[in-house]
Amino acid sequence: MKEIRKTARDLMTGYCRVCPVCNGKACAGEVPGMGGLGTGSAFMANVHALADCTFNMRLVHDITEPDTGTSLLGLELSMPVMAAPIGGVSFNMGGKRSEEEYITAIIDGCRQAGIVGCTGDGVPPFIHEAGFAAIAAAGGHGIPFIKPWEDAELYDKLAKARDTGASVVGMDIDAAGLITLRKMGRPVSPKPVDTLREIIARAGLKFIVKGVMTVEDARLAAEAGADAIVVSNHGGRVLDHTPGTAKVLPGIAKEMKGKIAIIADGGIRSGGDVLKMLALGADAVMLGRPFSIAAMGGLTEGVASYAQTLRTELMQAMVMTGTRAVTQLPANILWNGPRA
Ligand SMILES: Cc1cc2nc3c(=O)[nH]c(=O)nc-3n(C[C@H](O)[C@H](O)[C@H](O)COP(=O)(O)O)c2cc1C
Repeated sequence: MKEIRKTARDLMTGYCRVCPVCNGKACAGEVPGMGGLGTGSAFMANVHALADCTFNMRLVHDITEPDTGTSLLGLELSMPVMAAPIGGVSFNMGGKRSEEEYITAIIDGCRQAGIVGCTGDGVPPFIHEAGFAAIAAAGGHGIPFIKPWEDAELYDKLAKARDTGASVVGMDIDAAGLITLRKMGRPVSPKPVDTLREIIARAGLKFIVKGVMTVEDARLAAEAGADAIVVSNHGGRVLDHTPGTAKVLPGIAKEMKGKIAIIADGGIRSGGDVLKMLALGADAVMLGRPFSIAAMGGLTEGVASYAQTLRTELMQAMVMTGTRAVTQLPANILWNGPRA
């Protein structure tokens, strides 16, 4: 991983410093780029919220080979982890790799590691086109995410997403905050519950609503027929001054666990962080920037070996907290949750 991170740092010069801790401080305000919007506080809040959680250590037990496997939305996963949808290599990462190279590395590296990679959307069109092509080439093994467009573009892209062979599709509803798209004459917007219901029905695939930060929106997503939500603030890129996702997750899980699959992202940087999110109520998690760095630095092999590192860390954290399986978390593996 050291070599991969060094290559990524060289290739992403001016866009991402590949800091020892990826916490949004050095890159505050760098959107486009890899940072968080404005002061960067929402990106930083994600990392702080997870750092605020600490574990109860449990060593009087017989668990040495914990089970990290799970199934989610009909997908079998070697661990409850996915690579979050990220696109725009040219304007976010410096363009030293092509969009195709990057997204193929995400899709194929995740597949090799027994997990699933997601693809992003935006302007220019080669962002989603490269993603769709990579998923199709992998026999449908990937999850395409589409932005909440206001016009025919939404349904066109949903149809094309179906053609990739994917069984699950997502919409990052919080991309309504990306004013850059509106400025480019490509409007995105929030969706009232009836519109969302129609979108989900017409998609004809399992459907994920990404960008849920409140119990109210989680309830409405379920009411509209979504199969899963992603508790996410888009890595702090759509609204400055939102809480860390680990802070809002327990409230959402308390209300929605078992009614809809709950995925969470934002600031997850290690297998221990993965376990924290599960303990706070997630069924699975997504990591964004760390997978981007692995893909830029080491392509498919970089992504697969980063996933392997995460799985090793997750297993270590499970042993140290007396967790036999990610599907059967003991009640109190956290000493404390994030402070409000
Ligand atoms: C450069 C960049 C581009 C992104 N593009 C998309 C996108 O196209 N679609 C989407 O749903 N989310 C997008 N996201 C948000 C990520 O999917 C994810 O929510 C976020 O990165 C998670 O936080 P983390 O990077 O701290 O793990 C993007 C994030 C970054 C940093």
